[in-house]
Amino acid sequence: MNTQEQLESTIRELVCEGKGILAADESNPTIAKRFKAVGVESTEENRRHYRNLILAAPGLGEYVSGVILFEETLRQHADDGTSLPSIAAKQGIVPGIKVDKGKGPMINAPGDEITEGLDGLAQRLEDYKQLGARFAKWRNVYHITDTNPSRAAIEANAEVLARYAAICQSCGVVPIVEPEVLIDGDHSIERSAEVNEAVINEVFQALRRHRVELETMILKPSMVTPGNANGQKASPEDVAKHTLRVFRRVVPAAVPGINFLSGGQTPAEATLNLNAMNSGPALPWTLSFSYGRALQEPAQKAWAGISSNREAAQAAMVKRAKLNSLAALGRYSS
Ligand code: 13P
Repeated sequence: MNTQEQLESTIRELVCEGKGILAADESNPTIAKRFKAVGVESTEENRRHYRNLILAAPGLGEYVSGVILFEETLRQHADDGTSLPSIAAKQGIVPGIKVDKGKGPMINAPGDEITEGLDGLAQRLEDYKQLGARFAKWRNVYHITDTNPSRAAIEANAEVLARYAAICQSCGVVPIVEPEVLIDGDHSIERSAEVNEAVINEVFQALRRHRVELETMILKPSMVTPGNANGQKASPEDVAKHTLRVFRRVVPAAVPGINFLSGGQTPAEATLNLNAMNSGPALPWTLSFSYGRALQEPAQKAWAGISSNREAAQAAMVKRAKLNSLAALGRYSS
């Protein structure tokens, strides 16, 4: 297959009615936080054990089309020697890889951050492909205050995201483009809508400038919600209304899939909100999930680092995936 054929076949497998993506690409500091919450030490062996367990969960492939892995996982193996990416692939789950190198403060833009990792990216992608990765993810973050994100941060972050996506496509790797507008803060849902619209609009301008093929990429955005310190929760119908209004304005219909991050919503909220978005009139894109915490939290609690809890943890994983699959079809009821 040439690179174009690779992009097309991967996007066909990833964007699939009633299926979503599992984000299991926590960096070592982040997975250490998640493990600590369930009393587990984050050693390489524990990470291998846990990620092997979720990727091998029987039936997961019915609801999950792709999994985003951290570089360490791409190189790990199960006890029988099978590589962890192949365990996912055997279930029909396409392995992908987080390729950004994390974020840091943006110089001269107080309160804003910028994501790094473009240097040497094409070579790294060739190595990741050898290990089984067929798509990639790059995450930008934007903080909301009365004055953030600044114009400079919106433009600079869009530029790096577009350069990443162009490099991925040149290597035959489908890019997941993730501009995460953080939920932290006391802002209103209207302010979240305003920032998301400005951020996503700028991202698509940069994607065009860099001639990224919109048909073979996936957008991974935040939902439009009030800040977590706002004191008011929005109903799923409100979240759906504000989120879809923004997307209709700024996301071209050529984009096949929009797979949301969960960004600190509870597992139940993330499912209800996705379901509300898929319960209205037909949309130009397939709207599904690419959740990390909202898919894995129940499985991590059920596991708690104890080998004999393996099956219970796998069942918790598959249950959440199934409920979100129903939500992606607008057929979930609590
Ligand atoms: P959450 O769903 O936990 O926000 O994680 C998704 C993700 O991949 C963030 O980069």
